[in-house]
Amino acid sequence: MKISVIGCGYLGAVHAAALASMGHDVVGIDTDPEKAGHLSRGFAPFFEPGLEDLLAEGRSTGRLVFSTEMDLVADADVHFLCVGTPQSKTSDTADLTYLEAATREVALRARAGAVVVGKSTVPVGTVERVRGWLGRTDLELAWNPEFLRQGTAVKDSLVPDRLVYGVEEGAGAEATVRALDEVYAPLLHAGVARIVCGFATAELIKSAANAYLATKLSYINAMAQLCDAAGADVTQLSAAMGLDPRIGQRYLAAGLGFGGGCLPKDIRSFRAQARELGVESVDAWMGLVDSVNVDQRGRVVGIAAELCGGSVAGRRVAVLGAAFKPDTDDIRDSPALDVSVQLAAAGAEVVVTDPKAIDNAWMRYPQLRFEPTAADAVEGAEVVLLLTEWAEYRALDPHQLALTVARPAIVDARNVLDADAWRAAGWDFRGLGTGDGVRSAGAVRAG
Ligand SMILES: NC(=O)c1ccc[n+]([C@@H]2O[C@H](COP(=O)([O-])OP(=O)(O)OC[C@H]3O[C@@H](n4cnc5c(N)ncnc54)[C@H](O)[C@@H]3O)[C@@H](O)[C@H]2O)c1
Repeated sequence: MKISVIGCGYLGAVHAAALASMGHDVVGIDTDPEKAGHLSRGFAPFFEPGLEDLLAEGRSTGRLVFSTEMDLVADADVHFLCVGTPQSKTSDTADLTYLEAATREVALRARAGAVVVGKSTVPVGTVERVRGWLGRTDLELAWNPEFLRQGTAVKDSLVPDRLVYGVEEGAGAEATVRALDEVYAPLLHAGVARIVCGFATAELIKSAANAYLATKLSYINAMAQLCDAAGADVTQLSAAMGLDPRIGQRYLAAGLGFGGGCLPKDIRSFRAQARELGVESVDAWMGLVDSVNVDQRGRVVGIAAELCGGSVAGRRVAVLGAAFKPDTDDIRDSPALDVSVQLAAAGAEVVVTDPKAIDNAWMRYPQLRFEPTAADAVEGAEVVLLLTEWAEYRALDPHQLALTVARPAIVDARNVLDADAWRAAGWDFRGLGTGDGVRSAGAVRAG
């Protein structure tokens, strides 16, 4: 099929490359000339494991091109809308201006009978607005929310958990489903589950899924607070809880909490939707999830101050991690950078390192110093904070690191280090929810 992908950021670039690898002719359009230029030369404009291989494959087959030229979408059978829907600068709601602009651009150029498919995450009721922006009755409309995760986006696109098609009941529905089935034929062939539903359900499936993940994380972080108060260990608690298959281990790790370009803005948008629809319970619920999450950042700042004898003013703090999570260079709403900025505002001299995200961060945070490696960052530090759990930080040697810091004190804000090993190497070691000194290496064993 001929396919256009409008918006080639973390979602769209991967989607375009994945569709080309499924055998389609794909044109990816982005208004950012630098991004489109990088992509058309086969370079990923951001760090995403496996993306450059997929881009190279697309280039070699000639099935994948990128451009800023909207006119190239004219003969596409299917148009995917993948532009950003960030949080509005003035409220909790999603800013739909990029979506409106992209939709209107497509409407000016799409051939009659083409299918316009939204992938961006949107508040319930948005698809009806998109129809208005399209302003044409000869185009089919569908909503196909995306569930990929940065860091594993390529795999998630090539082997997704499920495909959701939001379509309008009525005459065109069958043809729209057929078109989407043709787009995703290799995935359906491989047995990927497909859910066909109405627009509102498709919109809500995505928001509800993200709200659930955020709930699970904030739940275990609330338990971490309880564990600290009771002198218990949340890592053992969550390991034991997660062995119940009804609960599961994933998204049950207590720590600094979630950030990024999706979960925080999506739960706030969800709150705004719930308020608009008069469903107070969801509004209150998401409010609590958000505040537990944000509180974790303040708790880490507090522990750092405690380790510095009450105040971080004038103290050197080393921060390991700037990306919002490992295996991405994305710093949107990064908990690690939020903590770093709070520490700098309290007078600390903050030195941050990250394997991939420094290029994105250094210009935006002049109050922070950036170093390329953990060894450089920790030199002379009075406290070290592990805030993003990159594999290379998990593998750090506590004996070696102890030689270069001014004082061996560390906050493992992701609860990923072996507390006993670090303590044995002489470190004053703190986790989150690990009840000072209670945590031991003894993992909960199954059976
Ligand atoms: N990033 C993820 O992991 C992920 C996962 C699932 C869903 N989503 C959703 O996908 C959407 C996009 O997210 P993202 O992370 O890729 O955002 P992003 O900011 O990385 O990418 C958006 C891209 O759209 C481009 N753009 C804006 N207006 C345009 C226009 N009129 N025409 C062409 N291009 C335009 C921007 O230049 C940018 O490159 C959001 O709604 C997000 O919630 C993201």
